[in-house]
Amino acid sequence: MVHYLRFLRTPQAADASKKSIDISAVAAVTTDLGDSFFSQDLTIIARLVDATKSGEILCSSEVLWKTGSRAAKVALSCNAKLAGRLVQLHLTTRDTISAHASCEVPAVIDVWSSPFTIKSKAKAQPLVERRIQLQGKSQARIWEETGDSIARHIWDASLGCLIYLNSCFDTSKDDSLPLLRKLLTDDKAKRLRVLEVGAGCGIVGIALSQLRKSEIVLTDLEDAQDIMQSNIDCAAPASGSSLKRQVLGWGTGLSDLENAKFDLVLVSDCIYNPDSSVLLVETLKELSNHNSNVLVFVAFKRRHDADDIFFQHMQKSELRVIEKGTIKLPHIMTDYDIDEPQTETFVFRARD
Ligand SMILES: C[S@@+](CC[C@H](N)C(=O)[O-])C[C@H]1O[C@@H](n2cnc3c(N)ncnc32)[C@H](O)[C@@H]1O
Repeated sequence: MVHYLRFLRTPQAADASKKSIDISAVAAVTTDLGDSFFSQDLTIIARLVDATKSGEILCSSEVLWKTGSRAAKVALSCNAKLAGRLVQLHLTTRDTISAHASCEVPAVIDVWSSPFTIKSKAKAQPLVERRIQLQGKSQARIWEETGDSIARHIWDASLGCLIYLNSCFDTSKDDSLPLLRKLLTDDKAKRLRVLEVGAGCGIVGIALSQLRKSEIVLTDLEDAQDIMQSNIDCAAPASGSSLKRQVLGWGTGLSDLENAKFDLVLVSDCIYNPDSSVLLVETLKELSNHNSNVLVFVAFKRRHDADDIFFQHMQKSELRVIEKGTIKLPHIMTDYDIDEPQTETFVFRARD
């Protein structure tokens, strides 16, 4: 499993003394569903960093996450001279730092709190940032909520998509999806027209907008629009790229996207619910009716047998699988976590 450092209680400052201000938080290391915890000892590094561009580390401490833990208290004592600085609390591990340095997605995804000012009783908002390195030294910086919303945090398949995109734009790597790779990497001067459905926080579309010139429309239900906009606001699209968002409920028609033509549709971790799968297929069919050449890239992490229902509906549609593959997700093997996690990938196109 991929694991995510999370704040169960966001950082807050205690009363300031003349010499120091104590900052505390409660963290956990869980899966994307939050249904299980990291199952062996792990040293969590807590760093208070300047929230402005400098990113300077102002103070740090270590916390031991013990086998069987469900929560860990994080505590830092910083010099009172730092009062008034705008900071973020960054929780990470040594291996996570090394993975980022080699442009890899880590097995334990680190977390940055929202910015807060060092002063008595200050508390960070229930929002956190994830940062994933992309090819070419750019970084996908994605805000998500600390709560349990489905739409407002990132899912494992999206990490698989970023691993795939990074490998696509790395010419030294082979690829199991050559047609998709060709579309993504040929003719970089062309603006690729991309629609993402069920985009959630928008991580996949945003990463693509940073990797190549593209015109991306992120879509989801109303519930996800605010977080998507926050992420569009702090994205760094490549020159010539654009990012927009809009509401698109599956199976409800394409409204003003009716006449839009897309080269690529992205679908990451959206097939988990058999009831909505049939609606999703309807939307994908409508999109391919407008452009029979459109490629539909579906990435998902298999969670239960009902995932197959999406494929059964797709089989009955005009769309057929033209490529498929798997992407290994990062993983730390433990006694309780022996299965190597992966993202399954499918590329569909309208039947000839
Ligand atoms: C598991 S999340 C995946 C989010 C994101 N693609 C990722 O991989 O991190 C599934 C997304 O599908 C969206 N979704 C579910 N049912 C939907 C529907 N009927 N119409 C539009 N979006 C829907 C949810 O709001 C959510 O953002």
